[in-house]
Amino acid sequence: MCGIVGYVGYRDCSDVLVSALTKLEYRGYDSAGIAVFEDNKISVSKSKGKLKNLVEKMAEEGKPVGIAGIGHTRWATHGEPSDVNSHPHSGAKVTLVHNGIIENYKELKDFLVKQGREFLSDTDTEVVAQLLDYYYDIIKEPVKAIIETTQELRGSFALGIVFEDYPDMVYAIRRESPLIVGVGENENFIASDVPAIIKYTKDYYLLEHDEIAVLSKSGVKIFDIHYQPIVKELKTADWDADAVGKCGYPHYMIKEINEQPTAIKNTVLPRIKDGLPCLEECNITPEALKDINRIHIVACGSAMHSGMVGKYVIEDLARTPVIVDIASEFRYRNPIIGEGDLIIIISQSGETADSLEAMRLAKRKGAKTLAIVNVMGSTIAREADMLIYTHAGPEISVASTKAYMVQLAVMYLFAFEFAFAKGNITDEKYRYYTEKLLETPEMVEKVIAQTTEISQKISTKLLTADSLLYIGRGLDYALSMEGSLKLKEISYIHSESYAAGELKHGTISLITEDMPVIAVATQSSIYEKTVSNIKEVKARGAKVIMICQEGNDVPKDIADYVLKVPNFEEVLLPMLVCVPLQLIAYYTSVQRGNDVDQPRNLAKSVTVE
Ligand code: M6R
Repeated sequence: MCGIVGYVGYRDCSDVLVSALTKLEYRGYDSAGIAVFEDNKISVSKSKGKLKNLVEKMAEEGKPVGIAGIGHTRWATHGEPSDVNSHPHSGAKVTLVHNGIIENYKELKDFLVKQGREFLSDTDTEVVAQLLDYYYDIIKEPVKAIIETTQELRGSFALGIVFEDYPDMVYAIRRESPLIVGVGENENFIASDVPAIIKYTKDYYLLEHDEIAVLSKSGVKIFDIHYQPIVKELKTADWDADAVGKCGYPHYMIKEINEQPTAIKNTVLPRIKDGLPCLEECNITPEALKDINRIHIVACGSAMHSGMVGKYVIEDLARTPVIVDIASEFRYRNPIIGEGDLIIIISQSGETADSLEAMRLAKRKGAKTLAIVNVMGSTIAREADMLIYTHAGPEISVASTKAYMVQLAVMYLFAFEFAFAKGNITDEKYRYYTEKLLETPEMVEKVIAQTTEISQKISTKLLTADSLLYIGRGLDYALSMEGSLKLKEISYIHSESYAAGELKHGTISLITEDMPVIAVATQSSIYEKTVSNIKEVKARGAKVIMICQEGNDVPKDIADYVLKVPNFEEVLLPMLVCVPLQLIAYYTSVQRGNDVDQPRNLAKSVTVE
């Protein structure tokens, strides 16, 4: 989704804006632009396509030179990706960039057209620029004009604004869409996310809804919607510029796959006390857990898939029903939520619009909500009743890997503590599972080392496939959903995950020698059953790639490739087996020459529904 940056200080503003925007590229975008004060006039440069197009354009036409300005990467919503629809947008004295959607832009545009205003683009953002310009023309004071304007807007927005009469000042406001204010020495910033500014400063304010920031070189002032000054807590990021660099890796995705052992340690270790999970610091006590009779896990994409694994583990160990819901379905189907229900929302970004609204709906229905979130201070994190942060660090690649991995880790921490609190596992089992979870970083490291080469080999066999199937049963099925999503989102090869036992009820008719099947068979209790399903697809000509444990005795001739992971506690195997699934997707995408980290049409943080 769109990315916003702004700068005022002493450096070359165009360079700072472009450099900050490159750190927001992961959000997904299709055009970019900047506006910089040059000799007290606002100079705008914008271009369709990737940032390099903008840089080339500025090299040809001359880049704006100044020390204050705003910048934007646009993910098109209203109006196609084009130069003219790119941000910034301007009125006579106002130029701004916007992340979000203005729902009532049509009626506002009608009003402005009646006032004789002309529009150049199809965007909702230009309506905001013109409306702000309209009020500024009457009120002549930037903050008051921002307040007046935003009171008329319905929808979500983070705005970075410059006023021609106030050179070297940057203004900002947010509602729903995220925005931070970076605080440096003799320089200040706005950005959609911390990675954009981490090269310059680690200190920042998190803007809350309807808070207005006024930035000059020497300081930042923040006001509420009544124009009252607010004193805010200054936060400090606990990671540095390396965390948002590639550090020698060709892509963020492979860097992030390799960061998984550390991410698990950072997430699990602080939650272990006397050898057992302890989530009290997250407001979760064994007493409170005892009263939970049903769990809903609500999320989108990979986060939802980690919830699927959670479902199998929680139901198995704690004997409590778990319903997993796609957030966009949950929020519109009047879900049945009763006393004793816990709603778990899982989200890497903490800003996914559907997950956020699902959580708000659950709260309105009186349910207790627990959020599992990676980005500190994000909206879901702030609004949940209980919160467990995953500590994956910044995840830049659009395809989730390390964030999914630590979501799994938290699912296990929760499941073990919950199962014990419910009296369904013994103290001995509780300790055993926890010990095994603590071994996973080392095991994941081993799996990365052992399966990279074979995953690469397997991926060469998938390059020309039009479509493939992932199959499995139980936990393997839950995991195969993530494997399939990973492959399709970055390789652009269609794939589907299917419960292996369900194939013969329709889908098996698709099987031909042109449809590879990736079969996950790691669970001993259902191993033979999955093997039978593998035989069924093999007999119909499918090329089979089978993933199982080292100890498994794989019958001859049922698979073209067998990829083995070390024997380990089976409940925890999804944390190991997801690694080759990630690697297969990664190498397939690389070999097809795709943009691995920024796959087409996708955004990292989906802040619109
Ligand atoms: O930020 P979130 O975890 O809420 O995002 C949810 C999905 O959009 C996300 O997991 C998406 O499916 C990933 N790109 C998949 O790799």
